[in-house]
Amino acid sequence: MIVGSKFYRLTEVDSTNEYVKHILSDAPEGTVVLADVQTAGKGRKGRNWYSPEGGLWMSVLLNHCDNSLMPLTAAVAVCEAFQPYDIRLGIKWPNDLLLNRKKVAGILTEIVDERAILGIGINLNVQQFPDDLAEKASSILVETKKHLNTQTLFQDLCQSVDKNYRFLKDERIDELLTRWRDYSIMIGRDVRIELPERIVVGKVLDIDRHGALIVMRADYSVEHIIAGDCRLLN
Ligand code: BTN
Repeated sequence: MIVGSKFYRLTEVDSTNEYVKHILSDAPEGTVVLADVQTAGKGRKGRNWYSPEGGLWMSVLLNHCDNSLMPLTAAVAVCEAFQPYDIRLGIKWPNDLLLNRKKVAGILTEIVDERAILGIGINLNVQQFPDDLAEKASSILVETKKHLNTQTLFQDLCQSVDKNYRFLKDERIDELLTRWRDYSIMIGRDVRIELPERIVVGKVLDIDRHGALIVMRADYSVEHIIAGDCRLLN
């Protein structure tokens, strides 16, 4: 297996992604950092990521760095890791994982020195969330009443990331996209996507081979959107 070629288990760290950046020059591909608590967990767009005890906070260092397909690959891997437990997560583009319409996991990919640091945060056994998050965020435990063992899930997840990363490396993109479509909650939904300079509103048709969302506007014009903040309207 590539994933897990080297393993760091930390009780506390600022951010597992930041930790990987510090060890980058000596770290082989597949290095994994797992922490019990992050004191400065990072989300997308410079947001904070609430990372108390009970969550699964990890980063994987990978050499192949396709910044648009990597998060998609990771999202599929997270969904598949929960399959043995009869827990079905849904992928909300670009990289949120939902259960009962609440966000239970997120993915942050950073490219440094042409390598990818794939950060995965799963609210596994987190019991409570601060008021400002409680409306949108939840945990696997709260939503399913199942208490999964962090270590076991972590191993499942490493295997699943490894398997899906191989699809990416081997350019078996169709297989990845088929898996993504299976877990996605996007297709056919009306969305509002905030881009830096404008807003796109339309219906999601599909995803393309670059991980871009294919959206059709009310005037039937079609656009491929590679990144943006997406809100589901129905
Ligand atoms: C998001 O949905 O905004 C992305 C959240 C990513 C959180 C994970 S937890 C492990 C890794 N370390 C971080 O600081 N962030 C990612």
